[in-house]
Amino acid sequence: MEVLIGSEAIQGRVREIGRQIARDHPEGAPLLIGVLRGCVIFMADLMKCLPIPHEIDFISISSYESSSTSSGAPRLVKDIGRDIRGRDVIIVEDIVDTGHTLDFLRRTFLARGPASLKTVALLDKRSRRECNVPIEYVGFEIPDRFVVGYGLDFAERFRHLPYIAALSPEELIPTPAIRSAGVA
Ligand code: PRP
Repeated sequence: MEVLIGSEAIQGRVREIGRQIARDHPEGAPLLIGVLRGCVIFMADLMKCLPIPHEIDFISISSYESSSTSSGAPRLVKDIGRDIRGRDVIIVEDIVDTGHTLDFLRRTFLARGPASLKTVALLDKRSRRECNVPIEYVGFEIPDRFVVGYGLDFAERFRHLPYIAALSPEELIPTPAIRSAGVA
């Protein structure tokens, strides 16, 4: 396991993003919508670094209909619990890879009439992009490596690590339950 982004670097960048979001929302009260489950640590740290009033909610998306094949069709598993009409909404993602999930989320939320819709992603694996999606706040652009830690998992492991690490191909034991994205 190779550490790509250390804990202190993450914390410093999260503080910068928090200040930037605060500057962009002088009236305060944006609604942060975290995309479960990878967002949880980033979301919690970002909230602590966001010096303006804000609210939070969570949404859960299934990227693949089948566990063994990529359908490329995200599906809503758990919706948020409020009306976002007229709200300044910020989607909180741990990582944007192909962009299909974010594209689905943006279309879903835009249809509900928010005042504004932005995205903050800790990690941007831009070289893998298949959908042209805007990301207003990016923590780090990363290479096409399989990464874990700070909320991101491999077969539900490693989410607790305080840093972002890359697994080598030998450390990746492909199973049908593991998404193909980034594993090869
Ligand atoms: C990750 C991440 C994004 C999505 C990005 O979630 O949190 O939601 O994949 O991939 P894409 O850009 O190719 O659509 P994942 O499905 O791994 O679920 P998890 O957050 O519960 O681990």
